[in-house]
Amino acid sequence: MKKKVIVAIDGPSSSGKSTIAKLVAKHFNFTYIDSGSIYRAITYLALKNNLVKTDSIDVVSLIDLLNNCSISFSFNSINQNIINIDDVSVENEIRTFEISNNVSLIAEKNKVRKYVLKIQKDISKNKSVVMDGRDIGSVVFPNADFKFFLDASLDIRSLRRWNELKLSEKDLKFEDVKKDLLKRDENDINRKFSPLIRTKDSILIDSDQLNIVEVVSQIINIINKEIKNK
Ligand code: DC
Repeated sequence: MKKKVIVAIDGPSSSGKSTIAKLVAKHFNFTYIDSGSIYRAITYLALKNNLVKTDSIDVVSLIDLLNNCSISFSFNSINQNIINIDDVSVENEIRTFEISNNVSLIAEKNKVRKYVLKIQKDISKNKSVVMDGRDIGSVVFPNADFKFFLDASLDIRSLRRWNELKLSEKDLKFEDVKKDLLKRDENDINRKFSPLIRTKDSILIDSDQLNIVEVVSQIINIINKEIKNK
């Protein structure tokens, strides 16, 4: 097997990317990197410092703030990433509905994307990674060894996200989660820089009719087949 392998998993919000990517990484003993968590951590910082106004953000102040703090990953015992700001974990703080609701506004800024790109490249130096996101196969690692595009219908994705968020936000309505996902899809697909696209060389997996185990084993089989032929 090649010394370093990059597996890119892209797709819309709540298509199951992180769950699948974690399991694939665990199987091959690769490092799992959740690139959305970097955008979420930046959104957390922006909100905490009042840099988000109704429909705009103060990008200059945000970049200034980013240049004066560190966003980094630490890894738990099973090689999964934990996102830190100035060495303090914000893993729980970034999973709220408020962050989900504001993150597209942050992720569309080119200056923010350039900042994140550097973190993504640095963290993948000298190791095999499974990275999930929106632009991993198109922009971050256009030469990735494996590119998967994970998709599912809006209803199925909304249901999955609602079930997840309901555990901590009991009053949350399914329709609000669906509305938020639709808005995020539109923002991800239509933004100017690094929009969500399915590259021609990626393998499409529609998980509407598949459970997690089925999707994971499809991906593992594809990777194994290729690796054996090398
Ligand atoms: O995967 P997620 O829902 O945690 O991602 C959070 C947001 O970050 C999502 O709205 C889109 C954005 N994102 C992105 O623009 N590019 C990536 N590579 C990963 C996430």
